[in-house]
Amino acid sequence: MDTQSLIFCGSSHQNLGEEISAILKVPLGNIQLSQFPDKEISIEILERVQGRNVFVIQSIALDPNFYLMELLIIVDALKRASAKNITAIIPYFGYCRQDRKDKPGVPITAKLIANMLTAAGITHLVTFDLHASQLEGFFEIPVTHLHCQKLLVDFALPLLGKDYLVIAPDIGSIKRAEKVAKLMEADFAIIEKRRISSMDVKMTLIGTLSAKNILIADDICSTANTLVSAAKLCKEHGAEKIIATVTHGVCSGNAIEQIENSPLNHLIVTNTIPFFNRFNSSTKILSTSVAPLIANEIKKMYH
Ligand code: R5P
Repeated sequence: MDTQSLIFCGSSHQNLGEEISAILKVPLGNIQLSQFPDKEISIEILERVQGRNVFVIQSIALDPNFYLMELLIIVDALKRASAKNITAIIPYFGYCRQDRKDKPGVPITAKLIANMLTAAGITHLVTFDLHASQLEGFFEIPVTHLHCQKLLVDFALPLLGKDYLVIAPDIGSIKRAEKVAKLMEADFAIIEKRRISSMDVKMTLIGTLSAKNILIADDICSTANTLVSAAKLCKEHGAEKIIATVTHGVCSGNAIEQIENSPLNHLIVTNTIPFFNRFNSSTKILSTSVAPLIANEIKKMYH
């Protein structure tokens, strides 16, 4: 990394910031993050940023409204302090699933957040496995869209055993599953998912399971309904070992309990969203880190 660059970390994911700083052997930039007594966010950049390339790491997850607002305020402060380029590194781009108007009266929050970030002053976005690649087009600034499939496949393969098949748990994840299948030199099959409600899905397997060990590849685990229903369906069709991989472990509500009580042998997630103590009770959830991928991207960017 060049000496003109600085990395700041918002309060959403300090562990990831520290991991990246350790890999790059560069200390994180000094920033004071706090709240006024009335809960408004207060921040102060305690470094000279004028004319420098700065990176801000912030995941929009777990408390998305707070962390989004904090990120916008940090970017505003950097812009007003005359930073040269402001790259937002948003490992999990919250609100990304509302990316189209599929019925009257609903917003397109992904576009709204893109507008807000650009208006605040970011000049570049680095993010991981967006819900739909078209989201890149919501920005008029460069977007570096990183993918975790290789990272997840490398982790999953030794656990999966031989004779495996990749499953796309819904039509929207076909492209991802195809990519994963190519990396694993395996076939893939598709599940058709119909959402009855946010808590209930109906699934049908298209075709047959041609192998006994299954890897279900998805982008997000939120309520875990998708993964658990897909795992149950695979079991009904004779699957032996079932491993799921997702980039973003949102895991809200009773997702972890559902995973523990499901036919899934393992769920592998990355740390785009902090774990805190959320997964301590799980015997099935395993994790891998995106920090080396981000560090590599930072190194490349202004080198
Ligand atoms: C859907 O389009 C996504 O790719 C995921 O399958 C979905 O967000 C998972 O949500 P949940 O865990 O609530 O079923």
